[in-house]
This record gives sequence, structure tokens and C-alpha cells, in this order.
Amino acid sequence: MRALIPAAGYGTRFLPATKAVPKELLPIGDRPALQWIVEEALGAGAEEVVVVTSPDKPALKDYFTPSAVWRARLADKPAALAKMEQLDALASRVRFVEQAEQRGLGHAVLQAAGLFAQEREPVLILLGDALVSGAESCSAEMLRLSRERGGASVVGLERVARERVSRYGIAAVEAAPDEGRTYRLTGLVEKPAPAEAPSDLAVAGRYLLSPRIFGLLAEVPPGYGGEIQLTDAIQRLIGSVPVYGYRYPGRRHDIGDPAGYREALLRFEAVAAGGRGASEGTIC
Ligand code: UTP
Repeated sequence: MRALIPAAGYGTRFLPATKAVPKELLPIGDRPALQWIVEEALGAGAEEVVVVTSPDKPALKDYFTPSAVWRARLADKPAALAKMEQLDALASRVRFVEQAEQRGLGHAVLQAAGLFAQEREPVLILLGDALVSGAESCSAEMLRLSRERGGASVVGLERVARERVSRYGIAAVEAAPDEGRTYRLTGLVEKPAPAEAPSDLAVAGRYLLSPRIFGLLAEVPPGYGGEIQLTDAIQRLIGSVPVYGYRYPGRRHDIGDPAGYREALLRFEAVAAGGRGASEGTIC
């Protein structure tokens, strides 16, 4: 299984902080958000992670480029050196693809189509500005569900307040047999008005999708906001293969806006200090 992290967006909701520092590199404890997400993907079993970046955000690639200069500088500081070596080990499993124009999340995913052309397994897609906290790994749980269902596609979901549904992709689902954790998806709508929302289940920034998604993305016309929407391609995927929704019992933190970022900081303070057990949740 391989993973894909779209991280090429403008980050306008968090300006001016994100003018020079991409939101994906904002620190959460002792490491940037993107590193937590790469670790989540690798921890769930991904062999390699492809990050979609933009020419305006060279810092993303810089961060994952091993540095002999830093190694030399830290020769007599073993604790700091160990952290940098750990980062270099991650970096060897991360590669980049560029999205030259920011034409939406679906368009960002499409930029990696060539790298996934031979893929047979579902592709794990993790939004670069979404952290997920809880007792289990959200990606690992989705992978388990997919395997139980013969390699089916799975979309991570979270419940949101009705008045907030217009901020998210919202799922239409069949009733869940297992205490409301696993659903058969019948549709997805991007940012519906509350009165038109088919449920209060929002996509939560984690997807495990059949590689057919790339072909569908190439076909979908621009949707909400004039952008190529991943949601629209998943809607088409639902028409051809079974797609499940997995309602993760933890929390999703959108670090792309100041409030979500603050929440993530508080949540992971203890984890970053090395006290996983001391934290209410672990990052997954
Ligand atoms: P968002 O819509 O939250 O990101 O996309 P954005 O466009 O950067 O946000 P604002 O509205 O301007 O603040 C979710 C993820 O998809 C990536 C973003 O980097 C983010 O990690 N994305 C979005 C792309 O890679 N390319 C795009 O064209 C849009």
C-alpha cells in the first residue's frame, strides 16, 4: 500500500502565518504537522508516501531532504542527532510531485496519477492539514476495514454539528449495523446547505480509495468553487464499486485555520513531550 498527501494548497485561512511557512510545516509539539501525518501513513503500513507540493512551497521538500550539514553540527549532541536521523529515515520513504496551479484537492491528487499507474491496492490519501487524534490509528483502522471487505474503498467520517455541514463533504449512507461505525456510502455532497445535507457525517481527511479514482478525477468537470473536487470523483466511484464510510471515534483537527491549530496543539502537547500515556489521545 502506498500513501498520498496533498499539501499544495494556498492556506489562505491562516494568513499571514502561512505566507512564508506552509501550514503543513506548522509545529505541533516537536515536529511539523506533516511529519505526524507521514508517520501515521508509514505506521499504518504504507511503503512509500507521495507528497503533492507546490512551487511556492519549497520548504516542504527542504524539510524531507537529509542534511549532512545538520549531522555534522550535531556530532556532539546525540539526542538532537537521533531526532534528525529519525527524520532522515522517514525522508527516504517520501517523494514529491508538484501541482503547478492550485485547482483544488481533486486536481492535487490527479497530479500523482502517473506515480500510481501500476497500483492495484487502494491508495491511502491523508490531507496535509488534517491531524487525527484518538486511541487507535485512524488509517490503520480504515485499512483493517478495507481488508475485511476484500480491498474495498473506505472514507473516514466524523459527526459534525448540523449548522457546520456546509464546511465539509457530507456523506449519504445506509444504516450502520455496528453501532454507527461502518456505513455503506450511497453518495457524497461537497459543502451542502444544512437543509440539503444527507446526514451529519463529514469526510474527515482520510481516504483509502481504489486506484480507479485517478481515471475518474481526469473525467470530472470542475465542481464546487470551480475546483476539481475529490468528492465528485468519489461520488462516481460509488457508482462502480462498493465504498464504505468508517466513523472514527477520535477527533479530526483542521490545522488550516487558527482555531483548529490551537486545538491540535493542546491535544498533542503531552504526546510531543513523550508522554503518550499522559495524553487523553494519541496522534494516529
Ligand atoms: P484545503 O482546501 O483545506 O486547503 O485543502 P487550502 O486550499 O490550502 O485552504 P485555504 O482555504 O486556502 O485556507 C485540504 C488539503 O488539500 C491540499 C491543501 O494543501 C490541504 O492540505 N490542497 C488543496 C492541494 O494540495 N491543492 C489544492 O489545489 C487545494
